[in-house]
Amino acid sequence: MDDTFLLKTVNEAYSSVAKTGATAGYATAVARSFGYTVEQLDSIPLESHLGLGCGNPTVTVTLKPGETVLDLGSGGGIDIFLAASKIGADGQAIGLDMSAEMVQRARRNATRRGLSPPNVCFIECSLADVLPIRSNSIDCVLSNCVINLLPPFGKTNIFGEVYRVLKPGGRLVLDDILAKEQMPSHIREDMKQYSCIGGAIQVHEYDGLLKLAGFNDSLFVDSRADLNIYLMAAELESNTPSCCGAGSERPTSSSGDRKDLDLNQWAASYQIYARKPDEVHGIICDTPLEQWWDAFPAVRATDVARISPVELAAMLRDGPSIAVIDVRAEDHGGGHVEGSLNRKAQTFHTLLESFHAQVVGAHTVIFYCSGSMERGPRCAGWYQDFLDSSGRSAPNVRVLDGGIRRWLDAYSEDAELTEGYPHA
Ligand SMILES: C[S@@+](CC[C@H](N)C(=O)[O-])C[C@H]1O[C@@H](n2cnc3c(N)ncnc32)[C@H](O)[C@@H]1O
Repeated sequence: MDDTFLLKTVNEAYSSVAKTGATAGYATAVARSFGYTVEQLDSIPLESHLGLGCGNPTVTVTLKPGETVLDLGSGGGIDIFLAASKIGADGQAIGLDMSAEMVQRARRNATRRGLSPPNVCFIECSLADVLPIRSNSIDCVLSNCVINLLPPFGKTNIFGEVYRVLKPGGRLVLDDILAKEQMPSHIREDMKQYSCIGGAIQVHEYDGLLKLAGFNDSLFVDSRADLNIYLMAAELESNTPSCCGAGSERPTSSSGDRKDLDLNQWAASYQIYARKPDEVHGIICDTPLEQWWDAFPAVRATDVARISPVELAAMLRDGPSIAVIDVRAEDHGGGHVEGSLNRKAQTFHTLLESFHAQVVGAHTVIFYCSGSMERGPRCAGWYQDFLDSSGRSAPNVRVLDGGIRRWLDAYSEDAELTEGYPHA
């Protein structure tokens, strides 16, 4: 299988898992067998664990409040949610995944929990590319059952990228499946439906790639977990995808009998620890993303038309049906346009579908924030992109020029146009 095709196949497989989800029974059986406690599972959204892991990096890693954590191949978000509870509101937990559907699922889970960028971000990107993360900005990199899925060039790339983004002294805790020995080709063939075992490399090869990237003292610990849990749990829940099967057909051995297949004979789940040396020079950066909106796709519609406060006032008094959207968050208050809906900019992109359903009947949708310089035009742009990509032409999208500041300059005293203005 060529590398691009492998990336595409893996993407499709996990996107399909993200759409269908896993049964709670399967996901819990797999998670418990790889070391997640009942308390951990009870503390996170059910939809965030899909039985796709091969370990539990969050149980051994020590995370302190305020730290930055990066999860490679974050899936439904299980390890990000557990890490987020340790690093708290002052920290930053960022999950990367190439599957748009997985990222959507994880963002929805986060939004339901009231978590949003910059504190908790999920970003769509391939680990085989340059990561959208600033150099020397991450305290701890985690990953659970993902590196094995990368093609050879992707494995080399990701360790180089992890080294780049870690702060000097930053650490790496990976759970991954490694091959116990060189697999004969017919066994690799048997394993090919198990993407995470078919792509597994041996300890010395993995260590070689880490060293190449600059991690000189890695530690490999065989968790001794029983990989046949994937077979047993799938046996119980016939339609459930596994970490290794990832939505593919039910696997069999070359003899045709899946009972012959003992995953433990060929592979094992390892926890791998490494540290970027302290003495590496580089400017330490405390913000892995330049801005919170870098967690979302760049806006294509950067030229959404503006309307003036006078035009909006006329529309409110006697115009077509409109929806006015205030996208401020904690700074929402101190007066807003009469009747406006408040939608926090940081979660706006995640909820575009439901937002559209709510405003689709309006003739014009008008966005604003404090000065309509950043959040207002950004959300308007995302909404316009959403309309453009789905071939919908209505409603019209506009930005209120000058935001709430200019609006209040003109209409703060007008109770029909302004709500919640704190008169002295
Ligand atoms: C086995 S699942 C593990 C998910 C998650 N870590 C967990 O424990 O539930 C692998 C995840 O890695 C993602 N993935 C696989 N290859 C990737 C790549 N090249 N770049 C980014 N993400 C990738 C998949 O989309 C999937 O969500």
